[in-house]
Amino acid sequence: MTPEEIKKFSSEQMTMLIHGAIGLNTVQGIELGFFDWIPLNKPITAQELSGQLGYDITKVERWLRFAVSYGYINRSDGGYTLTTKGSLLREGTPTPDLLGLHHMFSYFTKAIQHSKDAYQKGVGLDSISQGKISRDYIPRVASQLSKSSAEFFKGSGLSTGHTILDLGCGDGSVLREISRTCPGVSATGIDMNIHTIEQGKRKNSEEGLQDQIDLQVGDVTDMTRFPDNAFDWVYAFNVFHFLPIAKREKFIQDMIRISRYGIFFNQVIANNIQTISVDVLLATLFTDFTGFFSETEADELIKKVSALHHTFMPVIQGESRLVVIYTLKNDIPLNRIANFPEADSVKLTSAGIRTAKGLLASSPEAMAALVTNAALLRKLAIKALFP
Ligand SMILES: C[S@@+](CC[C@H](N)C(=O)[O-])C[C@H]1O[C@@H](n2cnc3c(N)ncnc32)[C@H](O)[C@@H]1O
Repeated sequence: MTPEEIKKFSSEQMTMLIHGAIGLNTVQGIELGFFDWIPLNKPITAQELSGQLGYDITKVERWLRFAVSYGYINRSDGGYTLTTKGSLLREGTPTPDLLGLHHMFSYFTKAIQHSKDAYQKGVGLDSISQGKISRDYIPRVASQLSKSSAEFFKGSGLSTGHTILDLGCGDGSVLREISRTCPGVSATGIDMNIHTIEQGKRKNSEEGLQDQIDLQVGDVTDMTRFPDNAFDWVYAFNVFHFLPIAKREKFIQDMIRISRYGIFFNQVIANNIQTISVDVLLATLFTDFTGFFSETEADELIKKVSALHHTFMPVIQGESRLVVIYTLKNDIPLNRIANFPEADSVKLTSAGIRTAKGLLASSPEAMAALVTNAALLRKLAIKALFP
């Protein structure tokens, strides 16, 4: 290594340490209650904060110095107040997923403590924590995903009166969001983790959704009990990464078999330093984590299930790509869709988009390049395909 390379490498390592420390100090602040105790408007002194919470004053002052330099709090003559950035880390803020990170951080710290055990076969962190990790982790990370996916499903054809199945549903937070966004939908969720299913049932009852959402304990790698076309829509979010690799193809084939209209699932692609790092960390944290996809593996899986009408949507969460496969057995030529403008039908047909399913499976960019009213045409295709 040249001196220049050594300098560059050391500086990278230092940056990594600093980022880790900022994350941990932030989580510490959440855990200690600082973000909830420091007011937004009326300043509080370090002495008052230490007295009210019973914490060592020198440590409180040291944390406050970090928080001021990172822009979480302001310092004035009268004491300390939260900045807007700091206020986003309070309980009950509109950024619950950020608070979810706080929990992930504590798991990551545990993973570091126990990594030697976690690398040994059969002695993963899951067993060390008696299953608590999977149990607490899931419900908190899903809320952002729930919102974007519920909207997305609606835009893809889900509507009142349809049935929907969530495979590996966790606590059912995505189903609850769908039920709020699309009230007439009848929803079922399956997960093998009994704790999270129980938690989900409680939340359903609290929101009066117990009749609309049926949560069941079950293994999604065995779907023999479901007949063909058992549900209108079937989806699985962040689940592939927990399924044995040899069972992933069959899993999609079963989803296609039991869905009448279409399936949705995401594939997290590990192709940059962030996703690759998380891939390693999750494998340390969860004994049942089998891994994210490389781009090639992800593409090959779609090819293997020979999905004719599929589309990849942009990111819905992190480095995830959303795959939609339309499974409806019938299709309609564009010129037979009610009110479909003839000029658009001609343009799309000459570009190889000939049917309603073909239109829905085309990328938004390709559609936008061909027609000016892509959103309206999508709506017409959806209306024609899904009653
Ligand atoms: C990362 S969580 C995702 C939860 C939820 N879909 C979401 O997006 O928030 C993965 C879930 O898959 C469940 N899971 C993994 N393998 C499963 C299997 N073979 N059968 C049923 N559930 C499974 C786990 O219990 C866990 O709840």
